[in-house]
Amino acid sequence: MSKETYSAQQRASETLFKPFASEKLQLSNRIVMAPMTRSRSPGGVPGPDVAAYYRRRAENGVGLIVTEGTIIDHPAGTGDPNIPLFHGDASLKGWAKVVSEVHEAGGKIVPQLWHVGMTRQNGSLPNPEAPSVGPSGLTLAGEKTNEPLSVEEIESIVEAFGRAAGEAKRLGFDGIELHGAHGYLIDQFFWEQTNRRDDPYGGDIVSRTKFAADIVRASRRAAGEDYPILLRISQWKSGFYDAKLAKTPEELERFLAPLVDAGVDIFHCSTRRFWEPEFPGSDLNLAGWVKKLTGKPTITVGSVGLDVEFNGAFRGQNSDVADIGQLIDRLEQEEFDLVAVGRSLLADPLWAAKIRDGRFDELQTFKAESLRTLY
Ligand SMILES: Cc1cc2nc3c(=O)[nH]c(=O)nc-3n(C[C@H](O)[C@H](O)[C@H](O)COP(=O)(O)O)c2cc1C
Repeated sequence: MSKETYSAQQRASETLFKPFASEKLQLSNRIVMAPMTRSRSPGGVPGPDVAAYYRRRAENGVGLIVTEGTIIDHPAGTGDPNIPLFHGDASLKGWAKVVSEVHEAGGKIVPQLWHVGMTRQNGSLPNPEAPSVGPSGLTLAGEKTNEPLSVEEIESIVEAFGRAAGEAKRLGFDGIELHGAHGYLIDQFFWEQTNRRDDPYGGDIVSRTKFAADIVRASRRAAGEDYPILLRISQWKSGFYDAKLAKTPEELERFLAPLVDAGVDIFHCSTRRFWEPEFPGSDLNLAGWVKKLTGKPTITVGSVGLDVEFNGAFRGQNSDVADIGQLIDRLEQEEFDLVAVGRSLLADPLWAAKIRDGRFDELQTFKAESLRTLY
């Protein structure tokens, strides 16, 4: 190994393995496992195989695990009966086992609380009789298939998120992440294409944050002042990769302010390629801008260690190992605080340990077929 390669590896390991300390959350390093739906929880119950899968990441150096999206207590929260639920005795017992395995291995873990909203097809399992719901009954393409949510229904979903936050705390999770990204229910309120309401939940970019802000407040009430609340946001929506909630930094600032006021502690800023500038005239990515505008810690994500963005995997595309030098530069410059890693960790539970120990030549290419196995 050349001297240059050695020092680059040393730097990567040192920078990613610096402890992270924020007001409410302390982590042993900067590597976060990105939330990844695996649909391996029949009947909505995460079993021992799922617990062992998360444990392997905790044993092998991941600082914080964000679980796959898990569904709050609402009949149309998901359209896939193999996605884990976050309510009901059997599912919560399954999650309790996940938490204890991860903690025994010295890791930390937060559940990603999720409602898929109008991305669900009417008639889907596990509750085919429940109509899909969204702010205006519109699909992401803008097609009206259902009635808009009533205010009472909105309030009951907000309360269901709050209850989930309370359960997370009771089960011993280290915080929660609210899934406000990718065009699912919370994001359907954020996005003008899917939110055409003319009551306090709709309107300009500030009013469109009310649903999320109410959820943050309900979660805070249920889980207490000291409990870490992470919020995942994205400009892009599933199938609409050019969508933008905020077209300028000023708009982004207006969008974020009510969420910070409501009590978000850490923003998880989802992009498909971490190196892409969010707005012209600056190299900052979305996590960089959100940190600069809010002063809150942020998590970046998107093609860390891989050369093809994540949707490729769903089209059967493999991905080669890519250099992480630029990521390390940005982390050293404190553009963001934490780095979420998706597919690299899905396929290889040892990924973080390999980076920590400088075993770069053992990093594996990502094969789309790995989606089928809980490594
Ligand atoms: C199989 C798979 C499932 C995913 N499921 C979720 C999910 O449940 N919630 C979420 O916010 N993002 C989800 N994502 C997106 C990832 O969290 C991550 O943002 C994306 O894969 C980019 O990171 P990567 O390039 O390191 O894979 C998923 C991605 C993959 C590959």
